[in-house]
Amino acid sequence: MAILITGGAGYIGSHTMVEFLNAGRELVVVDNFLNSKPCALERVKQITGKDFKFYEVDLLDKEALERVVCENGIDSCIHFAGLKAVGESCQKPLWYYHNNITGTLNLCEVLQKYNAKRIVFSSSATVYGNPSSVPITEDFPLSTTNPYGETKLMIERILKDLHTSDPEWSISILRYFNPIGAHKSGLIGEDPQGIPNNLLPYITQVAAGRRERLSVFGNDYNTPDGTGVRDYIHVVDLARAHLKAIERAEKITGVEHFNIGTGVGYSVLDIVHAYEKATGIAIPYQITPRRPGDIDECYANPAKAAEILGWKAEYNIEDMCRDAYNWQLKNPRGYDD
Ligand code: NAD
Ligand code: WQD
Repeated sequence: MAILITGGAGYIGSHTMVEFLNAGRELVVVDNFLNSKPCALERVKQITGKDFKFYEVDLLDKEALERVVCENGIDSCIHFAGLKAVGESCQKPLWYYHNNITGTLNLCEVLQKYNAKRIVFSSSATVYGNPSSVPITEDFPLSTTNPYGETKLMIERILKDLHTSDPEWSISILRYFNPIGAHKSGLIGEDPQGIPNNLLPYITQVAAGRRERLSVFGNDYNTPDGTGVRDYIHVVDLARAHLKAIERAEKITGVEHFNIGTGVGYSVLDIVHAYEKATGIAIPYQITPRRPGDIDECYANPAKAAEILGWKAEYNIEDMCRDAYNWQLKNPRGYDD
């Protein structure tokens, strides 16, 4: 039986495909390349020496999606496909709601129809809103501050209702913290279009000389050095969590939520220094005003994933920085090279 991967050409999807193919899993992949390039899939084949079926399908095209599921004996799904930029979601909320929610509804309807009632969903620490304390456990109150986060929370609720209505479903909701880094081969990595929104891709482009200096968004947060603290996790560690999640979903039914983070918080300046140490390159920066919507601190208590999934992050912050830079060096313009 095959696993359907939605959004497999994307940053996290491509890294997860490598881990699944290396584990001998049969994959069927759909993506519409809204935020990715076909080249990422070729690179996955290059790294693993393994093949998989790919369909250029939009989740909004339910008939095409149904054909893929029907033709391939799909029995489970890892669902990455979605739009993910917080700022853009505030400017184009209807697009975000339509793509992320309607796409997921179509997917669940099709999976249910073909009795493939097993799904791992890419949620986000953004569903914890502005947490009242850290580290965050899975039972913290949920709230969101932007349409992107709202789509994640809505999908979590839809999946819970789906299981209540049909207890045969096995649903694993992974709340990712801040994924960074790249596969050690340097063949796949994060390929942001335009000016990066996120910290690590921005620093990486500064290191490569593509941008002059980093703007550190505020140094008056309630944190040890005043800059924002986050839980950065190597994308390969994150990818491996999906393998553990699907193995568990193959054994039990139910809905479970897991924090996927390291449990360690690093400030923006910690990251700048770790990057400099890992690469030997100075990262010029300036302090600028806060970015609206940012919070002081966000890091996971990942104990539940360790206990139930048997998963734990293995890479440290310098590994993450080194691998991000290696990807950048080998692909100065991302997959366009
Ligand atoms: P990405 O943009 O690199 O990958 C998403 C993929 O989905 C892309 O290849 C895109 O083309 C595809 N896609 C989007 N809409 C589609 C549709 N309607 N039909 C078919 N394909 C579609 O993003 P990523 O960083 O790999 O994130 C994967 C998932 O993890 C997303 O759901 C994202 O919200 C979630 N997530 C990401 C982060 C992060 O910081 N990267 C953090 C938490 C959660
Ligand atoms: C990290 C820290 C910034 C850029 C976002 C989404 C979240 C999730 C992960 C999907 C913060 C600071 C950043 C820069 C800076 N995605 N920063 N200068 O905001 O924690 O999370 O990505 O689910 O939903 O909101 O990540 O990398 O943007 O920021 O100083 O140029 O770096 O203020 O403290 P964030 P980030």
